[in-house]
Amino acid sequence: MKFDVLTLFPEMFEPIKQSIIGRAMEKSLIDINLINIRDFSKDKHKKVDDTIYGGGAGMLIKPDVVYDAYKSVKTENSKVIYLTPQGKKLNQSKVEELAKEEHLILLCGHYEGIDERVLEKIVDEEISIGDYVLTGGEIPAMVLIDAVSRYVEGVLTKDSTEEESFSNGLLEYPQYTKPKEFEGMKVPEVLQSGHHENIDKWRRKEAIKTTYIKRPELLEKVNLTDEEKKYLEELKNNKD
Ligand code: ADE
Repeated sequence: MKFDVLTLFPEMFEPIKQSIIGRAMEKSLIDINLINIRDFSKDKHKKVDDTIYGGGAGMLIKPDVVYDAYKSVKTENSKVIYLTPQGKKLNQSKVEELAKEEHLILLCGHYEGIDERVLEKIVDEEISIGDYVLTGGEIPAMVLIDAVSRYVEGVLTKDSTEEESFSNGLLEYPQYTKPKEFEGMKVPEVLQSGHHENIDKWRRKEAIKTTYIKRPELLEKVNLTDEEKKYLEELKNNKD
């Protein structure tokens, strides 16, 4: 998977090169290429922005510099994503969908934004990471790269993405490690029993409980067995 990031602040991407993503880069499982939009300015002062037609506060990034930066990396299979609070909100199924792409070009805005004409010309999809406004698209681009890279083969063990939160529509069940007792709190007996069927059942119930308590709206999309539906009813009755 290749990510080409069009940004005015390539230095902001240092933190993503650590840990799991850093190792994936070293193993060439993913390639993160940072393109400084400023390098494409034809201005002798390397200016990339200008005042806004019709008036208004701030400056806008000029279309030609963005277009030239884009042309320097685009291929036949590129998908261009513009990170903006106006975009469709990123969620796990969108992440999985994007992970199937071969080449993502991530366009990061800054200042007041980017001239509309170049957005119209090159952007395939607008994505937001949440309903709040950040100072630029760099942090959202890192969020997207991190989330998508986890689905690239070899970056994580297969179990990690199959058993995690959201993969079955539920949040994760609680997990424990040593010591067996911490501040008077014990690890549940069933997890020490070695009985895998009972452990699986317990975990699934706990995942339903956690989801019911923290994000009940997620349960609407989950297929529950009759026994699990009964358990959910019990949870609801106990709460009232
Ligand atoms: N740029 C500024 N805020 C953003 C957000 N919430 N999501 C994506 N890009 C952004």
